[in-house]
Amino acid sequence: MTDTPVHKATPVEDWATDYDIFDPEYVVDPVPMWQEMREQCPVAHTDRWGGSWMPTRHADVQAMAKMVPELSSKAPLVIDQDDSAVDNSDGLNAPPISADPPEATWTRKMILPTFAPKAVQAYQPYTEQLCHQLIDGFIEAGECDAAADYAQQIPPRVIAHLLGLDPARADEFTEWVRGVLELGLNNPPVRNHYREKIIGFLHAEVSDRFENPRDDKLSELLQLDVPEMKGQEVHVVLGIANLLLIAGIDTTWSSIGSALFHFGSHSEDRRRLAADHSLFPTATEEMLRYYSPVTMGRVAQEDVTYGDVVIREGDKVLMNFPAANHDPEVFENPEEIQIDRQRNRHIAFGSGIHRCAGSNLARLEMDVALRAWFERIPEFELADPNAVTWAGGQVRGPRSLPMRF
Ligand code: HEM
Repeated sequence: MTDTPVHKATPVEDWATDYDIFDPEYVVDPVPMWQEMREQCPVAHTDRWGGSWMPTRHADVQAMAKMVPELSSKAPLVIDQDDSAVDNSDGLNAPPISADPPEATWTRKMILPTFAPKAVQAYQPYTEQLCHQLIDGFIEAGECDAAADYAQQIPPRVIAHLLGLDPARADEFTEWVRGVLELGLNNPPVRNHYREKIIGFLHAEVSDRFENPRDDKLSELLQLDVPEMKGQEVHVVLGIANLLLIAGIDTTWSSIGSALFHFGSHSEDRRRLAADHSLFPTATEEMLRYYSPVTMGRVAQEDVTYGDVVIREGDKVLMNFPAANHDPEVFENPEEIQIDRQRNRHIAFGSGIHRCAGSNLARLEMDVALRAWFERIPEFELADPNAVTWAGGQVRGPRSLPMRF
Protein backbone atom coordinates (compact mmCIF):
# COMPACT_ATOMS: atom_id res chain seq x y z
CA MET A 1 0.00 0.00 0.00
CA THR A 2 2.89 2.40 0.48
CA ASP A 3 4.40 2.20 -3.01
CA THR A 4 4.25 5.39 -5.03
CA PRO A 5 0.92 5.17 -6.84
CA VAL A 6 1.00 4.56 -10.55
CA HIS A 7 -1.94 5.82 -12.52
CA LYS A 8 -3.40 3.20 -14.81
CA ALA A 9 -4.56 5.58 -17.48
CA THR A 10 -7.07 3.00 -18.67
CA PRO A 11 -10.75 3.97 -18.62
CA VAL A 12 -12.82 2.59 -15.76
CA GLU A 13 -15.12 -0.23 -16.81
CA ASP A 14 -16.48 -1.24 -13.44
CA TRP A 15 -16.77 1.49 -10.83
CA ALA A 16 -17.52 -0.98 -8.02
CA THR A 17 -14.18 -2.80 -8.36
CA ASP A 18 -11.92 -0.37 -10.18
CA TYR A 19 -12.95 3.22 -9.37
CA ASP A 20 -10.60 6.09 -10.16
CA ILE A 21 -11.15 9.34 -8.28
CA PHE A 22 -8.90 11.12 -10.78
CA ASP A 23 -10.86 9.89 -13.81
CA PRO A 24 -11.56 13.08 -15.84
CA GLU A 25 -15.29 12.30 -16.16
CA TYR A 26 -15.57 11.57 -12.44
CA VAL A 27 -13.89 14.89 -11.60
CA VAL A 28 -16.39 16.83 -13.73
CA ASP A 29 -19.52 14.94 -12.64
CA PRO A 30 -19.18 12.08 -10.14
CA VAL A 31 -22.93 11.73 -9.50
CA PRO A 32 -23.65 8.87 -11.98
CA MET A 33 -20.65 6.88 -10.69
CA TRP A 34 -21.78 7.30 -7.07
CA GLN A 35 -25.22 6.00 -8.04
CA GLU A 36 -23.67 2.96 -9.69
CA MET A 37 -21.43 2.21 -6.71
CA ARG A 38 -24.14 2.80 -4.11
CA GLU A 39 -26.48 0.38 -5.86
CA GLN A 40 -23.97 -2.31 -6.82
CA CYS A 41 -21.31 -2.25 -4.13
CA PRO A 42 -21.76 0.37 -1.42
CA VAL A 43 -18.26 -0.16 -0.04
CA ALA A 44 -16.34 -0.25 -3.32
CA HIS A 45 -12.67 -1.14 -3.81
CA THR A 46 -9.97 -0.17 -6.27
CA ASP A 47 -6.34 -1.12 -6.79
CA ARG A 48 -5.65 2.23 -8.39
CA TRP A 49 -3.58 4.90 -6.66
CA GLY A 50 -2.14 2.53 -4.11
CA GLY A 51 -5.50 0.83 -3.46
CA SER A 52 -8.44 1.93 -1.30
CA TRP A 53 -11.97 1.24 -0.12
CA MET A 54 -14.77 3.78 -0.58
CA PRO A 55 -18.17 3.87 1.14
CA THR A 56 -20.82 5.85 -0.77
CA ARG A 57 -23.90 5.44 1.47
CA HIS A 58 -24.63 8.08 4.12
CA ALA A 59 -25.03 5.47 6.88
CA ASP A 60 -21.76 3.70 5.99
CA VAL A 61 -19.71 6.91 5.77
CA GLN A 62 -21.07 8.02 9.15
CA ALA A 63 -20.47 4.62 10.75
CA MET A 64 -16.92 4.38 9.41
CA ALA A 65 -16.14 7.94 10.59
CA LYS A 66 -16.91 6.67 14.10
CA MET A 67 -14.51 3.71 13.83
CA VAL A 68 -11.71 5.35 15.78
CA PRO A 69 -8.91 4.40 16.20
CA GLU A 70 -9.29 1.30 13.97
CA LEU A 71 -9.70 3.58 10.97
CA SER A 72 -7.04 6.12 11.83
CA SER A 73 -6.59 9.70 10.66
CA LYS A 74 -2.81 9.37 10.62
CA ALA A 75 -2.94 9.33 6.81
CA PRO A 76 -5.75 11.74 5.87
CA LEU A 77 -4.77 12.25 2.22
CA VAL A 78 -6.77 10.28 -0.32
CA ILE A 79 -3.72 8.57 -1.75
CA ASP A 80 -0.61 7.35 0.02
CA GLN A 81 2.38 9.60 -0.27
CA ASP A 82 6.11 9.09 -0.23
CA ASP A 83 7.03 11.84 2.16
CA SER A 84 10.58 10.65 2.71
CA ALA A 85 11.99 13.60 0.77
CA VAL A 86 10.53 16.12 3.23
CA ASP A 87 12.47 17.22 6.24
CA ASN A 88 10.02 15.71 8.63
CA SER A 89 12.58 15.10 11.35
CA ASP A 90 10.50 16.74 14.05
CA GLY A 91 7.47 14.66 13.02
CA LEU A 92 5.52 17.66 11.78
CA ASN A 93 1.94 16.91 10.97
CA ALA A 94 -1.35 18.77 10.91
CA PRO A 95 -3.26 18.03 14.12
CA PRO A 96 -6.08 17.46 14.84
CA ILE A 97 -6.91 16.30 11.29
CA SER A 98 -3.85 14.02 11.04
CA ALA A 99 -4.07 12.63 14.57
CA ASP A 100 -6.12 10.19 16.65
CA PRO A 101 -7.09 10.71 20.29
CA PRO A 102 -5.61 11.76 22.64
CA GLU A 103 -3.59 14.19 20.47
CA ALA A 104 -6.61 14.92 18.26
CA THR A 105 -8.67 15.79 21.33
CA TRP A 106 -6.35 18.32 22.97
CA THR A 107 -5.24 20.01 19.75
CA ARG A 108 -8.89 20.33 18.61
CA LYS A 109 -9.75 21.89 21.97
CA MET A 110 -7.04 24.49 21.37
CA ILE A 111 -8.67 25.80 18.18
CA LEU A 112 -12.41 25.38 18.79
CA PRO A 113 -12.93 28.73 20.59
CA THR A 114 -11.48 30.59 17.56
CA PHE A 115 -14.20 29.14 15.34
CA ALA A 116 -17.21 29.38 17.67
CA PRO A 117 -20.25 31.01 16.00
CA LYS A 118 -19.87 34.29 17.91
CA ALA A 119 -16.08 34.41 17.54
CA VAL A 120 -16.16 34.15 13.73
CA GLN A 121 -18.51 37.13 13.50
CA ALA A 122 -15.42 39.25 14.17
CA TYR A 123 -14.21 38.39 10.64
CA GLN A 124 -17.41 39.46 8.87
CA PRO A 125 -16.47 43.15 8.26
CA TYR A 126 -13.06 42.21 6.85
CA THR A 127 -14.62 39.57 4.57
CA GLU A 128 -17.31 41.97 3.35
CA GLN A 129 -14.83 44.68 2.56
CA LEU A 130 -12.59 42.21 0.78
CA CYS A 131 -15.43 40.84 -1.39
CA HIS A 132 -16.52 44.32 -2.44
CA GLN A 133 -12.94 45.31 -3.28
CA LEU A 134 -12.56 42.23 -5.45
CA ILE A 135 -15.84 42.98 -7.26
CA ASP A 136 -14.71 46.60 -7.78
CA GLY A 137 -11.77 45.18 -9.67
CA PHE A 138 -13.81 43.47 -12.41
CA ILE A 139 -17.40 44.74 -12.38
CA GLU A 140 -16.82 47.39 -15.05
CA ALA A 141 -15.34 44.82 -17.41
CA GLY A 142 -18.61 42.88 -17.48
CA GLU A 143 -16.71 39.60 -17.19
CA CYS A 144 -14.32 37.79 -14.88
CA ASP A 145 -13.10 34.37 -13.90
CA ALA A 146 -15.36 33.85 -10.89
CA ALA A 147 -13.04 31.13 -9.56
CA ALA A 148 -9.63 32.76 -10.02
CA ASP A 149 -10.61 36.42 -9.62
CA TYR A 150 -13.15 36.02 -6.84
CA ALA A 151 -13.66 32.71 -5.01
CA GLN A 152 -9.94 31.90 -4.88
CA GLN A 153 -9.04 35.32 -3.51
CA ILE A 154 -11.26 35.23 -0.43
CA PRO A 155 -10.28 32.32 1.91
CA PRO A 156 -6.48 32.83 1.85
CA ARG A 157 -6.87 36.47 2.87
CA VAL A 158 -9.45 35.71 5.56
CA ILE A 159 -7.29 32.97 7.10
CA ALA A 160 -4.15 35.16 6.90
CA HIS A 161 -6.06 37.96 8.59
CA LEU A 162 -7.34 35.56 11.26
CA LEU A 163 -3.92 34.05 12.03
CA GLY A 164 -2.08 37.37 11.96
CA LEU A 165 -0.13 36.63 8.76
CA ASP A 166 0.40 39.13 5.96
CA PRO A 167 -2.68 38.99 3.67
CA ALA A 168 -0.52 40.48 0.89
CA ARG A 169 1.13 37.05 0.62
CA ALA A 170 -2.23 35.36 -0.04
CA ASP A 171 -1.38 34.48 -3.64
CA GLU A 172 1.66 32.56 -2.44
CA PHE A 173 -0.43 30.71 0.19
CA THR A 174 -2.88 29.70 -2.53
CA GLU A 175 -0.08 28.48 -4.80
CA TRP A 176 1.43 26.42 -1.97
CA VAL A 177 -1.88 24.90 -0.87
CA ARG A 178 -2.82 24.00 -4.44
CA GLY A 179 0.67 22.53 -4.80
CA VAL A 180 -0.05 20.21 -1.87
CA LEU A 181 -3.72 19.38 -2.41
CA GLU A 182 -4.11 19.51 -6.20
CA LEU A 183 -1.01 19.56 -8.38
CA GLY A 184 1.06 17.50 -5.99
CA LEU A 185 -1.61 15.14 -4.72
CA ASN A 186 -0.56 12.41 -7.15
CA ASN A 187 2.99 13.75 -7.63
CA PRO A 188 5.11 13.42 -4.44
CA PRO A 189 8.08 15.58 -5.53
CA VAL A 190 5.75 18.47 -6.41
CA ARG A 191 3.83 18.04 -3.19
CA ASN A 192 6.99 17.96 -1.09
CA HIS A 193 8.30 21.09 -2.80
CA TYR A 194 5.20 23.07 -1.81
CA ARG A 195 5.00 21.49 1.61
CA GLU A 196 8.52 22.62 2.36
CA LYS A 197 7.55 26.15 1.36
CA ILE A 198 4.59 26.18 3.74
CA ILE A 199 6.57 24.68 6.59
CA GLY A 200 9.58 26.97 6.05
CA PHE A 201 7.39 30.05 6.04
CA LEU A 202 5.31 29.03 9.05
CA HIS A 203 8.34 27.90 11.02
CA ALA A 204 9.82 31.39 10.76
CA GLU A 205 6.50 33.08 11.65
CA VAL A 206 5.72 30.82 14.63
CA SER A 207 9.27 30.86 16.06
CA ASP A 208 9.35 34.63 15.85
CA ARG A 209 6.11 34.90 17.81
CA PHE A 210 7.37 32.41 20.38
CA GLU A 211 10.32 34.74 21.05
CA ASN A 212 8.36 37.98 20.64
CA PRO A 213 4.64 37.48 21.32
CA ARG A 214 2.28 39.87 19.55
CA ASP A 215 -1.40 40.56 19.75
CA ASP A 216 -2.45 37.93 17.24
CA LYS A 217 -3.86 34.40 16.95
CA LEU A 218 -0.57 32.53 16.51
CA SER A 219 0.87 34.19 19.63
CA GLU A 220 -2.36 33.42 21.48
CA LEU A 221 -2.14 29.72 20.55
CA LEU A 222 1.51 29.59 21.66
CA GLN A 223 0.58 30.96 25.07
CA LEU A 224 -2.32 28.61 25.80
CA ASP A 225 -1.94 26.70 29.03
CA VAL A 226 -2.03 23.16 27.59
CA PRO A 227 0.08 20.69 29.59
CA GLU A 228 0.59 18.35 26.59
CA MET A 229 2.12 21.22 24.59
CA LYS A 230 4.73 22.25 27.16
CA GLY A 231 8.23 22.33 25.72
CA GLN A 232 7.04 21.81 22.14
CA GLU A 233 4.94 24.95 21.61
CA VAL A 234 6.51 25.91 18.27
CA HIS A 235 6.14 22.39 16.90
CA VAL A 236 2.48 22.07 17.92
CA VAL A 237 1.38 25.53 16.77
CA LEU A 238 3.29 25.11 13.51
CA GLY A 239 1.32 21.91 12.81
CA ILE A 240 -1.99 23.60 13.65
CA ALA A 241 -1.19 26.67 11.51
CA ASN A 242 -0.23 24.33 8.67
CA LEU A 243 -3.63 22.65 8.95
CA LEU A 244 -5.61 25.88 9.18
CA LEU A 245 -3.92 27.25 6.09
CA ILE A 246 -4.50 24.06 4.12
CA ALA A 247 -7.98 23.23 5.44
CA GLY A 248 -9.29 26.77 5.11
CA ILE A 249 -8.25 27.64 1.57
CA ASP A 250 -9.03 25.06 -1.14
CA THR A 251 -12.21 23.90 0.58
CA THR A 252 -13.99 27.22 0.99
CA TRP A 253 -12.80 28.49 -2.35
CA SER A 254 -14.27 25.37 -3.98
CA SER A 255 -17.62 25.85 -2.25
CA ILE A 256 -17.93 29.53 -3.22
CA GLY A 257 -16.92 28.66 -6.79
CA SER A 258 -19.37 25.74 -7.03
CA ALA A 259 -22.21 27.97 -5.85
CA LEU A 260 -21.39 30.60 -8.48
CA PHE A 261 -21.10 27.83 -11.08
CA HIS A 262 -24.58 26.67 -10.14
CA PHE A 263 -26.24 30.06 -10.26
CA GLY A 264 -24.33 30.98 -13.44
CA SER A 265 -25.75 27.91 -15.16
CA HIS A 266 -29.26 27.78 -13.62
CA SER A 267 -30.94 31.09 -14.36
CA GLU A 268 -34.21 30.14 -12.65
CA ASP A 269 -32.46 29.54 -9.31
CA ARG A 270 -30.35 32.66 -9.82
CA ARG A 271 -33.41 34.84 -10.39
CA ARG A 272 -35.20 33.30 -7.44
CA LEU A 273 -32.32 33.95 -5.04
CA ALA A 274 -31.73 37.47 -6.41
CA ALA A 275 -35.41 38.25 -5.75
CA ASP A 276 -35.60 36.65 -2.31
CA HIS A 277 -32.54 37.03 -0.10
CA SER A 278 -34.21 35.13 2.72
CA LEU A 279 -33.24 32.02 0.74
CA PHE A 280 -29.49 32.52 1.28
CA PRO A 281 -29.22 30.21 4.33
CA THR A 282 -30.98 27.22 2.74
CA ALA A 283 -29.36 27.89 -0.65
CA THR A 284 -25.89 27.86 0.96
CA GLU A 285 -26.62 24.54 2.70
CA GLU A 286 -27.91 23.06 -0.55
CA MET A 287 -24.75 24.14 -2.36
CA LEU A 288 -22.70 22.52 0.41
CA ARG A 289 -24.73 19.33 0.07
CA TYR A 290 -24.83 19.01 -3.70
CA TYR A 291 -21.29 20.22 -4.44
CA SER A 292 -19.59 18.98 -1.25
CA PRO A 293 -15.90 19.45 -1.93
CA VAL A 294 -14.02 17.30 0.61
CA THR A 295 -13.14 13.58 0.64
CA MET A 296 -10.81 12.47 3.46
CA GLY A 297 -8.65 9.40 3.94
CA ARG A 298 -8.29 6.93 6.80
CA VAL A 299 -5.87 4.06 7.27
CA ALA A 300 -6.77 0.76 8.97
CA GLN A 301 -4.69 0.07 12.09
CA GLU A 302 -5.80 -3.55 12.20
CA ASP A 303 -7.93 -5.92 10.12
CA VAL A 304 -11.46 -4.51 10.26
CA THR A 305 -14.62 -6.33 9.24
CA TYR A 306 -17.38 -4.03 8.05
CA GLY A 307 -20.49 -5.76 6.73
CA ASP A 308 -19.22 -8.24 4.17
CA VAL A 309 -15.88 -6.58 3.50
CA VAL A 310 -12.61 -7.14 5.33
CA ILE A 311 -10.40 -4.08 5.37
CA ARG A 312 -6.83 -5.23 5.97
CA GLU A 313 -4.39 -3.49 8.29
CA GLY A 314 -2.68 -0.71 6.30
CA ASP A 315 -5.54 -0.39 3.77
CA LYS A 316 -6.77 3.06 2.93
CA VAL A 317 -10.45 4.08 3.25
CA LEU A 318 -11.82 7.16 1.49
CA MET A 319 -14.50 8.95 3.49
CA ASN A 320 -16.64 10.06 0.57
CA PHE A 321 -18.74 12.72 2.32
CA PRO A 322 -19.84 14.13 -1.07
CA ALA A 323 -21.33 10.79 -2.20
CA ALA A 324 -23.09 10.38 1.17
CA ASN A 325 -24.82 13.70 0.54
CA HIS A 326 -26.49 12.24 -2.55
CA ASP A 327 -27.89 9.15 -0.84
CA PRO A 328 -31.63 8.79 -1.64
CA GLU A 329 -32.12 6.99 1.71
CA VAL A 330 -31.50 10.32 3.46
CA PHE A 331 -32.28 13.06 0.91
CA GLU A 332 -35.52 13.34 -1.02
CA ASN A 333 -34.74 13.65 -4.73
CA PRO A 334 -31.02 14.05 -4.02
CA GLU A 335 -30.14 14.90 -7.61
CA GLU A 336 -32.55 17.82 -7.61
CA ILE A 337 -31.08 21.08 -6.35
CA GLN A 338 -33.67 22.73 -4.12
CA ILE A 339 -32.42 26.07 -2.83
CA ASP A 340 -35.21 26.06 -0.24
CA ARG A 341 -34.58 22.46 0.91
CA GLN A 342 -35.77 22.22 4.51
CA ARG A 343 -34.51 18.82 5.67
CA ASN A 344 -30.85 18.85 4.80
CA ARG A 345 -28.71 16.79 7.15
CA HIS A 346 -25.66 16.88 4.88
CA ILE A 347 -22.20 15.86 6.08
CA ALA A 348 -20.14 18.14 3.82
CA PHE A 349 -18.22 19.11 6.97
CA GLY A 350 -17.62 15.50 7.91
CA SER A 351 -18.95 13.53 10.82
CA GLY A 352 -17.68 12.32 14.19
CA ILE A 353 -14.64 13.47 16.15
CA HIS A 354 -12.95 15.16 13.16
CA ARG A 355 -16.00 17.11 12.01
CA CYS A 356 -14.82 20.40 10.50
CA ALA A 357 -13.64 22.78 13.21
CA GLY A 358 -13.91 25.73 10.81
CA SER A 359 -17.49 25.19 9.62
CA ASN A 360 -18.81 28.44 11.13
CA LEU A 361 -16.09 30.44 9.40
CA ALA A 362 -16.66 28.54 6.13
CA ARG A 363 -20.40 29.30 6.27
CA LEU A 364 -19.72 32.95 7.05
CA GLU A 365 -17.32 33.27 4.10
CA MET A 366 -19.78 31.59 1.73
CA ASP A 367 -22.67 33.72 2.94
CA VAL A 368 -20.76 37.00 2.69
CA ALA A 369 -19.21 36.12 -0.69
CA LEU A 370 -22.54 35.13 -2.25
CA ARG A 371 -24.51 38.05 -0.80
CA ALA A 372 -21.90 40.60 -1.96
CA TRP A 373 -21.89 39.05 -5.44
CA PHE A 374 -25.70 38.97 -5.74
CA GLU A 375 -26.01 42.51 -4.40
CA ARG A 376 -23.60 43.91 -6.99
CA ILE A 377 -24.09 41.42 -9.85
CA PRO A 378 -27.61 39.98 -9.69
CA GLU A 379 -27.58 39.07 -13.40
CA PHE A 380 -24.80 36.80 -14.59
CA GLU A 381 -24.19 33.62 -16.54
CA LEU A 382 -21.36 31.31 -17.53
CA ALA A 383 -19.59 32.91 -20.48
CA ASP A 384 -18.71 29.50 -21.92
CA PRO A 385 -19.81 26.32 -20.12
CA ASN A 386 -17.14 24.35 -22.03
CA ALA A 387 -14.39 26.52 -20.59
CA VAL A 388 -15.20 25.57 -16.98
CA THR A 389 -12.52 23.34 -15.45
CA TRP A 390 -12.73 21.31 -12.24
CA ALA A 391 -10.18 19.96 -9.80
CA GLY A 392 -10.94 16.71 -8.01
CA GLY A 393 -9.42 14.08 -5.76
CA GLN A 394 -9.22 15.42 -2.22
CA VAL A 395 -11.07 18.71 -2.77
CA ARG A 396 -13.42 19.12 -5.71
CA GLY A 397 -14.42 22.45 -7.18
CA PRO A 398 -14.23 24.68 -10.25
CA ARG A 399 -10.81 26.15 -10.98
CA SER A 400 -11.70 28.22 -14.04
CA LEU A 401 -15.14 29.78 -14.22
CA PRO A 402 -15.49 32.43 -16.93
CA MET A 403 -18.57 34.49 -16.14
CA ARG A 404 -20.25 37.40 -17.95
CA PHE A 405 -22.66 39.97 -16.58
C1 HEM B 1 -16.80 24.84 2.75
C2 HEM B 1 -15.62 24.76 3.35
C3 HEM B 1 -15.14 23.58 4.13
C4 HEM B 1 -15.48 22.26 4.03
C5 HEM B 1 -16.47 21.62 3.06
C6 HEM B 1 -14.71 21.55 5.03
C7 HEM B 1 -14.79 20.18 5.24
C8 HEM B 1 -14.13 19.50 6.23
C9 HEM B 1 -14.24 18.08 6.47
C10 HEM B 1 -15.06 17.11 5.64
C11 HEM B 1 -13.49 17.79 7.55
C12 HEM B 1 -13.38 16.42 8.23
C13 HEM B 1 -12.11 15.74 7.97
C14 HEM B 1 -12.05 14.31 8.39
O1 HEM B 1 -13.05 13.69 8.74
O2 HEM B 1 -10.95 13.76 8.34
C15 HEM B 1 -12.86 19.01 7.99
C16 HEM B 1 -12.01 19.12 9.06
C17 HEM B 1 -11.43 20.32 9.45
N1 HEM B 1 -11.62 21.57 8.90
FE1 HEM B 1 -12.85 22.03 7.38
N2 HEM B 1 -13.95 22.44 5.73
C18 HEM B 1 -14.18 23.69 5.21
C19 HEM B 1 -13.62 24.87 5.65
C20 HEM B 1 -12.77 25.01 6.71
C21 HEM B 1 -12.23 26.25 7.21
C22 HEM B 1 -12.55 27.64 6.66
C23 HEM B 1 -11.41 25.95 8.25
C24 HEM B 1 -10.61 26.85 9.14
C25 HEM B 1 -9.89 27.80 8.75
C26 HEM B 1 -11.46 24.51 8.42
C27 HEM B 1 -10.78 23.82 9.39
C28 HEM B 1 -10.88 22.47 9.61
C29 HEM B 1 -10.16 21.79 10.67
C30 HEM B 1 -9.25 22.42 11.69
C31 HEM B 1 -10.50 20.43 10.57
C32 HEM B 1 -9.98 19.28 11.43
C33 HEM B 1 -10.92 18.99 12.56
C34 HEM B 1 -10.47 17.79 13.37
O3 HEM B 1 -9.72 16.94 12.87
O4 HEM B 1 -10.87 17.72 14.53
N3 HEM B 1 -12.28 23.99 7.47
N4 HEM B 1 -13.28 20.05 7.17
